Amino acid sequence: MIQDTKSNTAKWWQTGVIYQIYPLTFADANGDGIGDLQGIIEKLDYLNDGNPDSETSLGIDAIWLSPINQSPMIDNGYDVSDYYDINDQFGTLEDFEILLVEAHKRGIKVILDLVINHTSNQHSWFLESSSSKDNSKSDWYHWQDPAPDGGVPNNWLSYFGGTGWTYNEARKQYYYHSFNNNQPDINWGNSQVKEEIFQMIRFWLDKGVDGFRLDASSVYSKDKYYRYNPVKFDANDQKKYNNQHHLYNKNLPENHQIIREIRTIIDEYQERVLIGETFIDSTLYESAIFYGINNDELHLPFTFEFPFSPWYPGYLQQEIAKKELITPQAAWASYFLDNHDIPRHLSRWVECSLCTNQLGIAQAAAAILLTVRGTPILYYGQEIGMVDNEDIPREKIQDKIVIRSETEELPETRDGARTPMQWNDSFNAGFSFGKNVEPWLPVHQNYTEVNVDRELKDPDSILNFYRKLIQARKQNEALRIGNWRTLIYYPYEHLAYVRETKAERVLIVINFSYEKDLTIDEYISQDNWQVLVSNVREANKIINLPTTLQPFEVSILRK
Ligand code: GLC
Ligand code: CA
Repeated sequence: MIQDTKSNTAKWWQTGVIYQIYPLTFADANGDGIGDLQGIIEKLDYLNDGNPDSETSLGIDAIWLSPINQSPMIDNGYDVSDYYDINDQFGTLEDFEILLVEAHKRGIKVILDLVINHTSNQHSWFLESSSSKDNSKSDWYHWQDPAPDGGVPNNWLSYFGGTGWTYNEARKQYYYHSFNNNQPDINWGNSQVKEEIFQMIRFWLDKGVDGFRLDASSVYSKDKYYRYNPVKFDANDQKKYNNQHHLYNKNLPENHQIIREIRTIIDEYQERVLIGETFIDSTLYESAIFYGINNDELHLPFTFEFPFSPWYPGYLQQEIAKKELITPQAAWASYFLDNHDIPRHLSRWVECSLCTNQLGIAQAAAAILLTVRGTPILYYGQEIGMVDNEDIPREKIQDKIVIRSETEELPETRDGARTPMQWNDSFNAGFSFGKNVEPWLPVHQNYTEVNVDRELKDPDSILNFYRKLIQARKQNEALRIGNWRTLIYYPYEHLAYVRETKAERVLIVINFSYEKDLTIDEYISQDNWQVLVSNVREANKIINLPTTLQPFEVSILRK
């Protein structure tokens, strides 16, 4: 039995809502077509203006910024060339300090993306390390001699496809990269580079950042003998990352030692959070170990249950149930629908033959995300129902990583989910005022309909639905910290569950049917439920159960 989380001991990262910003396309303040820190500062009031009754704020509690450090931007910031500086396109360190102050004024915490599995090949560490075999940083990356036939040292692959080894002429050796060849993996077995990184982490904590999202935090450690990974039985494509058992280059016991050391640093400061991306070819079960045996590694491991689930109530519930089962007692889960690496959920889940109920799907998905037990993470634009821009012409694609892949097929790009935030129906959707520059990626053509301004004015918009859900979380302890308990075991066309603490009980019922009504007396039939959030009923109204839910009705009721 999962214990009641005590309201007074719950942390901000357990009770709050986190919002991921992709800085390149959130807001462009200087009109060069590229998002920047000043742009984010100008939009803070939209995210949370500090007024609990605000009519124009979303009400989130923390922002996570995709990388803002100096970078040649081959992987759009996930390739850092200077950890101590801000990318020129985004602004200066001073701008960042202002962003911190302004965010904190409004009660918004700031979480940075920390890319420390690898650096850019333009980082001074790598420039030196790759220059010769005997320099002060020669062992800061994973260098190996060629195999006797001159080929790659072993069968380790890159997550982006093909071998993970790239040859370097100066050293006559190969270096390993879990991702693209411009992203050489750091050798965490070297204590000097480790200390450098720890010092850098302290630098940002001292500046006042509230935590980190550790990029690719399951692949830090590598086997020191560089042994071959076993290939999965029957794997037909031996160059595909997921067709190997990553015994020797992923999730090694040493990986957890590294995360634990980072956590120790975090814990020297007050109220900071450590989040990590753990999914790289990991099951949810494997990810559980990232909490640490004594709850001393990640606070929140990011796992991909909703992104990898179909739009099917039974499967969604199974993912929630699994997460409930594997989350240790003293630990805390987190959930998200979208991020910068995957298609947006409305593009994944709305089948076009049934496109008519996109709003219904958006509302149901929002309701689930904000009422399950765990910290919800929103991805910019999700709250207004943005969908992928599937019409980006090839020559405008910015995801160079995927463009560079050697496959014959048309490359898959992650750009569809990274297009400019749609603020209003003016030029460039209000993302950038620069008339003579094109925005970094083309704005989705639906921006005249799907935008913040318009949706704030429409009481039935998805944006206002998100606002109500976030408000309801703030006002109801059961939704923030209560236990989760399903009322139906094999759901087919609906979900029905409760969140409850000793003092409060909230019932969530979602009808997924496109055409059928749903009677909810089967589960619960007591009088006098107060409507907290509904896309059909009036808020605060007292209703009696049993009652009937219309197709795609979402009802969140309090006893
Ligand atoms: C993570 C990031 C992704 C990036 C990769 C390499 O998976 O989310 O965007 O390409 O790491 O840093
Ligand atoms: Ca700009």
